[in-house]
Amino acid sequence: MTARLVVLVSSAGTNLQALLDACADPAYGAAVVAVGADRHGIEGLARAERAGIPTFVAQVSDFSSREHWDRAMADKVAAFEPDLVISAGFMKLAGAHFLERFGGRYINTHPALLPSFPGMHGPRDALEYGVKVTGCTLFVVDEGVDTGVILAQSVVPVEDDDDVDALHERIKVAERAMLVDTVGRMAREGFRVEGRRGILGA
Ligand code: GRF
Repeated sequence: MTARLVVLVSSAGTNLQALLDACADPAYGAAVVAVGADRHGIEGLARAERAGIPTFVAQVSDFSSREHWDRAMADKVAAFEPDLVISAGFMKLAGAHFLERFGGRYINTHPALLPSFPGMHGPRDALEYGVKVTGCTLFVVDEGVDTGVILAQSVVPVEDDDDVDALHERIKVAERAMLVDTVGRMAREGFRVEGRRGILGA
């Protein structure tokens, strides 16, 4: 059975593109059935349109409260009956209602080695701290900010002459590979959570 993926994006969508490319092979075991965003006019949505995949947008500013937005987002995602919902550079925190519906199958990729450098500026914060290695983390989203159970991590060196953009681009190369590899395994083999441990395979 092919796993149904709904991918949420807020910007360039290179992680989305990596998934789209992987899904072109039926042996991968998953298909992107829809792409959602919190804003219009982004390359992530254009990538989905070029691939012929349905898109939807819910902007926080179009709703009377964050809670209404959260419910609308959950409804739009639910309409595509996903097995997995993937935040791939989606720059909004899911609310209680969204997590009630998709908790345990809503995953996020973060450009740092959690629990170090959570939040919006993982690459910048790692660079400012002066760590010699950083990386990326795929985790199951919970109520906290980047606190969920970890499914995969990949290590990336920090070079002496890095600026934030150079470091983030190097992380994103590792991030795309981690995402494609892990989502494929989750789709084909399943996964489970035991306490703080995310374990791939049945
Ligand atoms: C990724 O590094 C993601 O972890 C971060 O923003 C970046 C999104 O890149 N939150 P893209 O839109 O997939 O190219």
